Amino acid sequence: MVNICDRKTDFSGKKRSSTFAKILSVFRRTSGNGVERISSNDLSKKMKVTASQIRQDLNNFGGFGQQGYGYNVKYLYTEIGKILGLDKTHNIVIIGAGNLGQALANYAAFERSGFLLKGIFDINPTLKGMTIRDVPIRMMEELPEFVQNNDIEIAALTIPKTKAVEVAELLVDNGVRAIWNFAHTDLNLPKNVIVENVHLSESLMRLSYNVNRYNYFNAKE
Ligand code: NAI
Repeated sequence: MVNICDRKTDFSGKKRSSTFAKILSVFRRTSGNGVERISSNDLSKKMKVTASQIRQDLNNFGGFGQQGYGYNVKYLYTEIGKILGLDKTHNIVIIGAGNLGQALANYAAFERSGFLLKGIFDINPTLKGMTIRDVPIRMMEELPEFVQNNDIEIAALTIPKTKAVEVAELLVDNGVRAIWNFAHTDLNLPKNVIVENVHLSESLMRLSYNVNRYNYFNAKE
């Protein structure tokens, strides 16, 4: 197995990390079925990614499988978990306890992957003291001290886009290293800060595109 830190591969590659995330999700579904080995062809059918793409992405990280023998599910699950950093825990805060922030905070499954919700922040005083899954909503004045004292690595930004830049800078100044940005705006943070922009509407457009294609081809038959 290679040390991922030694390699020149582009680890931030969206396609590759999405292949890994899909593999993990397939394994989570199949591990209960007692499946010990899985071939790249079987993975390909379950993931809707070509078998060669899967082999290529996995080969970049060293030998995970033997030719013609498939992948050992348990081993690959553990190794991919390490590549994605899921063998460690990550402390998260959510900034903006509105519709989206509350929905994320209520989603307990993130914790199974090691993402621990430590705090929720807002500026709206009527939310102060409310709890979501036992995590209290705090006011923004408390944020700097809280982030510094609780080893917060990731912040989810679910606030209006007009506030996102200043809040992101405040987070980074206090030690946050990664932003899960739902606000529709570019953040332009220092290079050592990782930003993942999320656009649910893009996913919806892909869905719409596929519905359109399906309708088009079925109308022709
Ligand atoms: P919302 O209005 O329900 O919630 C926003 C919350 O942010 C409110 O509780 C408000 O008090 C708080 N807030 C405002 N300024 C703040 C500040 N400076 N610091 C801390 N908290 C502050 O809005 P909703 O529907 O939850 O959406 C939140 C954001 O997420 C919006 O920017 C929206 O456009 C975006 N969004 C993005 C999606 C995506 O796919 N990327 C999908 C849905 C929403």
